[in-house]
Amino acid sequence: MKSNAARLATALVFGGSLSFSAAFAAVDPVKSYETRHAHFHAIYGALQSIMDGLKLEAPDTDAIAMKAQTIEGLAHQIPTWFPAGTGPEGGAKTRAKTEIWTDSVGFAAAAKNLETQSAALQTLAKTGDIAAVQAQAKAVGGACGACHTKFRGPEVDHDHDHK
Ligand code: HEC
Repeated sequence: MKSNAARLATALVFGGSLSFSAAFAAVDPVKSYETRHAHFHAIYGALQSIMDGLKLEAPDTDAIAMKAQTIEGLAHQIPTWFPAGTGPEGGAKTRAKTEIWTDSVGFAAAAKNLETQSAALQTLAKTGDIAAVQAQAKAVGGACGACHTKFRGPEVDHDHDHK
């Protein structure tokens, strides 16, 4: 009985590691880059519509709160968009710096900061205090910049392939 249990345990561990390596091998750096590219554009679009909305004479604070919620939800996911092996070494024209993986705690904190700032923006939008909303929208933009400064490299030349 004991040996059966041991065999079962071995099978479980072995099966587990097999599916882990299969999942790891399935990471496609280019696809992964394209996915996060699309997500970052969604984040950018949400922030842009908040900024545009704040230019109106009577900003729609409900709409702003909804966009802030979109940013919060996406911010929460950011670390999952960077599986190991999807940096420049994977062949994608990515601006992801290696620090994303060597300082994954710092990267997660930068994502969490955006989550916190956009949550605060939602709360303020519900108060209807436009000046405060404006200031907080800037803080959200600051959270983007703080991460980009540390974890995003210079623009990649998309027109020429460097050999
Ligand atoms: C936790 C870090 C982090 C935060 C926070 C963050 N970004 Fe980024 N962003 C990145 C990284 C890293 C890249 C480069 C991804 C790549 O090239 O693979 C990037 C890329 C982008 C891109 C370019 C996408 C592309 O590939 O064309 C846009 C646009 C963008 N971010 C907008 C924003 C906006 C707007 C915010 C805030 C509302 C934000 N980001 C917050 C890390 C972050």
